[in-house]
Amino acid sequence: MISDTLIEKLQNSQHLVILTGAGVSAESGIPTFRDALTGLWENYDAESMASEFGFLADPALVWGWYEWRRNKVLCAQPNPAHYSIAQLAKKIPKLTLITQNVDDLHERAGSSDVLHLHGSLHQPRCLLCAEPYALTDETAPEKVMTQESRIEPLRCHRCDGPIRPGVVWFGEQLPAKGWQLAQEACRHCDLMLVVGTSGAVWPVADLPYRADKAGASIVQINPGITSLNAIAAFNLCGKAGEVLPQLYAAAFGDA
Ligand code: OAD
Repeated sequence: MISDTLIEKLQNSQHLVILTGAGVSAESGIPTFRDALTGLWENYDAESMASEFGFLADPALVWGWYEWRRNKVLCAQPNPAHYSIAQLAKKIPKLTLITQNVDDLHERAGSSDVLHLHGSLHQPRCLLCAEPYALTDETAPEKVMTQESRIEPLRCHRCDGPIRPGVVWFGEQLPAKGWQLAQEACRHCDLMLVVGTSGAVWPVADLPYRADKAGASIVQINPGITSLNAIAAFNLCGKAGEVLPQLYAAAFGDA
């Protein structure tokens, strides 16, 4: 049940921030990280798979795992949550979309200027000289592959160094420009939707607290409970692909 107060706040919002995490892509078949049984970090050691140290220790294992994930994304489609977010941007004077996701499902649903604070599976670069590596159809991962597929990393055209995934690993800085824009948006927005994130990874997890302090109302959309339940003015308990279309329809009618 969506409250009238929330519907009015959404209708009157001048600057809406939406922060998404893995949960927004879950209904597209992309695994989350921390959900029991299905989360990626349930079965893999995050330090081995998401650090430069782990990559150097076993490049083929790590590159193969990211290629498996990239293939999953290439085969996936945006779900109603991604589409509702793209529709909201047409109804509200300013919308800043911040994501921790490394897939491109927001863009494929029609969102633009997405702030990818944890990087992208689709923009790898050289480990040594940081030269971006342009992926082509020829470098598309095999359709049939498993999480354990070992694949030797591509080599840099400039210096022959190994190509690493373009995601932010533990201990690395967030993309400076995106992080700056995200912080600014959280200082100035009047409403913030936090969708499908456990809020376990900082500094991104701090953004809702900053927005709350700056006076915005926080809305959480998540079937589970997180630490954000304590400060969220509205907790919409449910799947993003169901709750977001309902919220959109309640505020603006059917898309
Ligand atoms: P998590 O796996 O930590 O959390 C996913 C959240 O989504 C949980 O709170 C679930 O309850 C919720 N969820 C599951 N299904 C959902 C659905 N259908 N609709 C809405 N919510 C749902 O994922 P993140 O919070 O995104 O970092 O994880 C943050 C970061 O940790 C990731 O970006 C990744 C990881 O280490 C990097 O790769 C750098």
